[in-house]
Amino acid sequence: MERLRVIGGHRLTGQIRISGAKNAVLKLMAASLLASDVTIIQNVPRIRDVEIMVKVLQSLGVEVTWDDRSTLRLDPRQGIHYSAPDELVREMRASVQVMGPLLTRLGQVKLFQPGGCVIGQRPIDLHLKGFQALGAEVVEEHGYVYVQAPKLRGAEIHLDFPSVGATENIMAAAILAEGTTVIRNAAKEPEIIEEQNFYNRLGARIRGAGTDMIRIEGVSRLQPKPIEYTVIPDRIEAGTYMLAAAITGGDLELEEVIPEHLESLTAKLREAGAEIVTAEERLRIRVGRRLSAVDVTVLPYPGFPTDLQPQIAAVLSLADGTSVLTENVFGSRFRYVDELIRMGANIRVEGRSAIVKGVPRLTGASVIAPDLRAGASLVVAGLAAEGETILEGVAYLDRGYEAMEQKLQAVGADIRRESDAPVETEMVV
Ligand code: UD1
Repeated sequence: MERLRVIGGHRLTGQIRISGAKNAVLKLMAASLLASDVTIIQNVPRIRDVEIMVKVLQSLGVEVTWDDRSTLRLDPRQGIHYSAPDELVREMRASVQVMGPLLTRLGQVKLFQPGGCVIGQRPIDLHLKGFQALGAEVVEEHGYVYVQAPKLRGAEIHLDFPSVGATENIMAAAILAEGTTVIRNAAKEPEIIEEQNFYNRLGARIRGAGTDMIRIEGVSRLQPKPIEYTVIPDRIEAGTYMLAAAITGGDLELEEVIPEHLESLTAKLREAGAEIVTAEERLRIRVGRRLSAVDVTVLPYPGFPTDLQPQIAAVLSLADGTSVLTENVFGSRFRYVDELIRMGANIRVEGRSAIVKGVPRLTGASVIAPDLRAGASLVVAGLAAEGETILEGVAYLDRGYEAMEQKLQAVGADIRRESDAPVETEMVV
């Protein structure tokens, strides 16, 4: 069992280089299932979710090798199967992103139905409705979902909610469909633009990603040529370190970021009193005084990201005044609140909102990360808390943050990973 030990009270100063985006790379890896030649992906973060996606792709028949520390080579030329093992789908919900590519490539896909999730119900009904609109038959039984479509036809699809995963899966499913598909109320996340660009490099005809209407003109075949693609920087990792700098009154420069992807957070932090200067691929944040309370409304991109909501709650728990955080993307994403309260925060959850009354100080405590971003929130809180915070549930952090404690140590944080010593057993004869 591993844990992080954080001793709070150190200002973060210096530079952090941001890794490739988890939510882009997982989808690009899935997208490579549509290639008939090798795909090389650069700037891949070494995180657990990438390892799981490697296993998913291997189980489907893709040959996966690491060319170097951050370069993945994916070769689907040996043939692809239509179903991945249940335990991998259970372990990582993003496994469902292989559905669209497999449906296009093989005309069928069968997966274990991903169930609920610690951050609320996460059904895939919008993905499935999209496939059906394209002419696929969907059978859900015995805990599996089986989608089959010997021939897909373009359609007009209006999403009830701009789901990131559904937008991506439908986009992939429509690439070889006959005729034109239009996805309205599509998700606008930057990661979707990456996929559009990737598929277009393969010969697809997609436009509009990044807006709420994506148009896919079906093509009869994709080009059998190798593709190299570099993953964009992780805006959620960058945002997490901005918030870590903010809570410690630090002065941090982030390298290899796309400042435009962080605008909703930058605006909020400026409103709260932080100084933020951006240049191409760099961002500097300085905080010289106690931040003021600000209200935050979580919305799909370009709104404030749900994946930074727990971390900004930690920062606002030390701000001057009362902040209201409203979560509009996931049903229950306040599981970190009880842990922050253990550290002295004053937060009350009412339905979709958390009312955060700023307190003068947090104190270190033993806490448990209930999920990935909640874990990040507790690390952020621990960096500013008086004394020692022991965080369990580190495995969650490893799913989405590359070398988090090394990056934080390099800018002055006192944070270390510890693991239980192996238990000595005495042989009784
Ligand atoms: C992706 C991100 C995740 C981020 C989320 C929202 C990845 C691997 N994960 O997740 O980090 O927090 O976007 O920005 O990219 N919904 C339905 N039916 C569906 C699909 C979604 O009701 O068929 C609901 C979900 O329950 C949730 C909301 O829509 O309440 C948003 O989910 P979605 O945008 O699909 O998130 P993911 O793609 O799963």
